[in-house]
Amino acid sequence: MDTLLEKLKNAQNSQELEAIRIEALGKKGIITQKFSELKSLEGETKKELAKTLNDFKIKFESIHQEKKTQFQMLELKLALEQERIDVSLFTSNSHKIIGHPISYTKDRIIAYFTYLGYELCTGPLVEDDFHNFSALNLPEYHPARDMQDTFYFKDSMLLRTHTSPVQIRTMQSQTPPIKMICPGATFRRDYDLTHTPMFHQVEGLVVDKGDKASFANLKYTLEDFLKYMFGDVKVRFRSSFFPFTEPSAEVDISCVFCEGKGCRVCSQTGWLEVLGCGVVDEYVFEAVGYKNSSGYAFGMGIERLAMLTCGVSDLRSFFETDLRVLEQF
Ligand code: PHE
Repeated sequence: MDTLLEKLKNAQNSQELEAIRIEALGKKGIITQKFSELKSLEGETKKELAKTLNDFKIKFESIHQEKKTQFQMLELKLALEQERIDVSLFTSNSHKIIGHPISYTKDRIIAYFTYLGYELCTGPLVEDDFHNFSALNLPEYHPARDMQDTFYFKDSMLLRTHTSPVQIRTMQSQTPPIKMICPGATFRRDYDLTHTPMFHQVEGLVVDKGDKASFANLKYTLEDFLKYMFGDVKVRFRSSFFPFTEPSAEVDISCVFCEGKGCRVCSQTGWLEVLGCGVVDEYVFEAVGYKNSSGYAFGMGIERLAMLTCGVSDLRSFFETDLRVLEQF
């Protein structure tokens, strides 16, 4: 019995501790067996042995418990140290990291258009009603405003619902020819698997004098851009409506997951919507004081493109700063 206590005191970790507990008090343990021998004894001898065994058991269990807590604390400390993440450290494979999917996708889009000579423009996130709505042919009480409900401040100021106000600002401060893109954050009153209150868009605008900028130019540019983004996909233009473009179209690519055969992501249609575009409406030119001009514009959601190129199914995971998700990129 003394050797058992000695062994117990010398145990170096939880496994050794458990092994000794089984050796002493397990089903076939030395002490357990001695307890069962009590049945065959009588009188004083039985009493004496029972007392010795019980005393031993109490002592053994108290040392065992003490050591067990000690090891658990140590193991917890070790685990915390090993699993600790120092976000300021560069890891050996940091050269592989492409960055956050949103900025990675944004940079790829910018690279394509700046290579073609598009100027990079920016605008304020807090906009006035004129630049965000009225100048884009969305007058007060226009039902299309309903799709872009946002967060309002005093004096008709609001968080911009798209990057299109930057079109207006650029046209106000420059004269044609204009060729610009503006990436940036936008805001709407939305929140589900595919919508967050803040998201990013890239908008493009081309304006030229006379009728030089045509829908054909727009179509060629976007088809080429989408092949650059997604590889060998089919592209289709579907007639649509935006108050600031006429004619307007939504652009689909053949589903990158099922190659157009039909799957859950494309709702069995074989197509994925990726862009909105159109020929700039005369009304918009009027609002910025342009005459005898032609132009086209397009807008896309960066998150949407990032989800498709990086294979992410829940948009919200882009904003949860969960390192386990981000480290995959
Ligand atoms: N601003 C539009 C939107 O947010 C997208 C768009 C931009 C459509 C430019 C056409 C032309 O839905």
